[in-house]
Amino acid sequence: MTSVLFKNGKVVKPDGVYREDLLVSGGKVEALGVHLPVPKEVEVRDCSGRLIFPGIIDPHTHMGIPIKKIRSADNFESGSRAAVHGGVTTIIDFTILAEGQGLQESVNARRDDAKRCFTDYSLHANLTRISKELLDEIPQLVQQGIVSFKVFTTYREAGMMLNYNEILQAAEILAAHNCTLMVHAEDDDFIQSVSQVFNRSKTRSVTAHGFSRPVMAEVKAVTEMCRIAEKTGCRVYIVHLSSEQGLMAVNGKAGVFLETCPQYLLLENNVFQRPDGRMFVTSPPLRRTQDNHALWQGLLSGTIHTIGTDHCPFNLSDKPEQIPFQEIPNGMGGIETAFPVLLAQFIRQNLPLGILSAAMSETPARLFGLYPRKGNLGPGADADLVIVNPESLRMRWTDTLVSATDWNGFLEFPALFPDEVWLRGECLVSETIISNEPSGMFIPGRMGKS
Ligand code: URP
Ligand code: ZN
Ligand code: ZN
Repeated sequence: MTSVLFKNGKVVKPDGVYREDLLVSGGKVEALGVHLPVPKEVEVRDCSGRLIFPGIIDPHTHMGIPIKKIRSADNFESGSRAAVHGGVTTIIDFTILAEGQGLQESVNARRDDAKRCFTDYSLHANLTRISKELLDEIPQLVQQGIVSFKVFTTYREAGMMLNYNEILQAAEILAAHNCTLMVHAEDDDFIQSVSQVFNRSKTRSVTAHGFSRPVMAEVKAVTEMCRIAEKTGCRVYIVHLSSEQGLMAVNGKAGVFLETCPQYLLLENNVFQRPDGRMFVTSPPLRRTQDNHALWQGLLSGTIHTIGTDHCPFNLSDKPEQIPFQEIPNGMGGIETAFPVLLAQFIRQNLPLGILSAAMSETPARLFGLYPRKGNLGPGADADLVIVNPESLRMRWTDTLVSATDWNGFLEFPALFPDEVWLRGECLVSETIISNEPSGMFIPGRMGKS
């Protein structure tokens, strides 16, 4: 592995953009600073005019998961390849707790699924059932670097939901181990009461998807989660927050962290009227312009902490037009386009790039125990870098996508794809993907004692 000196780049850190040189050796950052001396036998790469971000971390992906009897269309290999194309160097996916399985078995099975992964990866453990035996396994998982556990306040019919008392019980144990409790926060009772109306009216139209999972379902679940965070002291992380009112319900409460996704920042419920409207069925549903604006404000003011993609793509044939909206598999892709599309928005609107870097790299690394190995470019960090020419904004880029899916919901947006993406000192992307063999590895999360 050769040493490389990246000269004159603009390094994007949470507090600003700095003209610095970056010396990489043995897969790690060796030095970062102004006018670094050029060591002997080093490859020098001139990065003048280029932005250098720490590798993007996507804390919310679902590679090849079963939903409504089919699997999301990207497996670990194809999805992580797409990820790398879009600047993502680490993903955090979820275990799947199959019937009769223990937590350890679910971790082993998922690590097996992830054997061929182009990015580095870590795992959150799904807690879709609760029992003393399962909770007793938590310390063992923490030892192995699984430090975040995910619960659902909905998807009762799929057997994934915990009630609030069960979540409270889990939170008490997770707090004792300094773990993060992740929550898909939509109140199922609320959704069921509204859904009855749609079921009676026999409407099949996809526009009903939004009305059938209203904002108030999110508000109710988020409010309950704030209560649980306060009562137990457990760090709570709400995934894919979709609404202004959901954001207001949290109101910056200490110990509660919020993630939103590109789809909730950039898309709204008028997409359901498009011919491909069914492809935008995801939960929570896409909301109104007002919600987009509030989420942007949250991101820029720091009350929204991270951006994850909830990458769960489907092909056009997986969501056929004939089926009623209730039977459409929920989920959208976006890992390949999230960073390029959001970066283009930040550049066009002259927004502080440090906020994007923090939300898509340093903060997820900190929250899930990957920092300082990931999420920054200081000495000792893994040399995961994303190098972008801010002048190379493109309106047409569809034909460059490599994800295994035949549909993407962000094609109308301008994008700034990286020129180069490096993982632990290896160049994986140079204009196009140049690496054919996946070299991603499992990165254990380490939170330290609470
Ligand atoms: O509809 C969605 N978001 N599908 C993926 C699974 C989840 O709920 O995050
Ligand atoms: Zn979810
Ligand atoms: Zn998800």
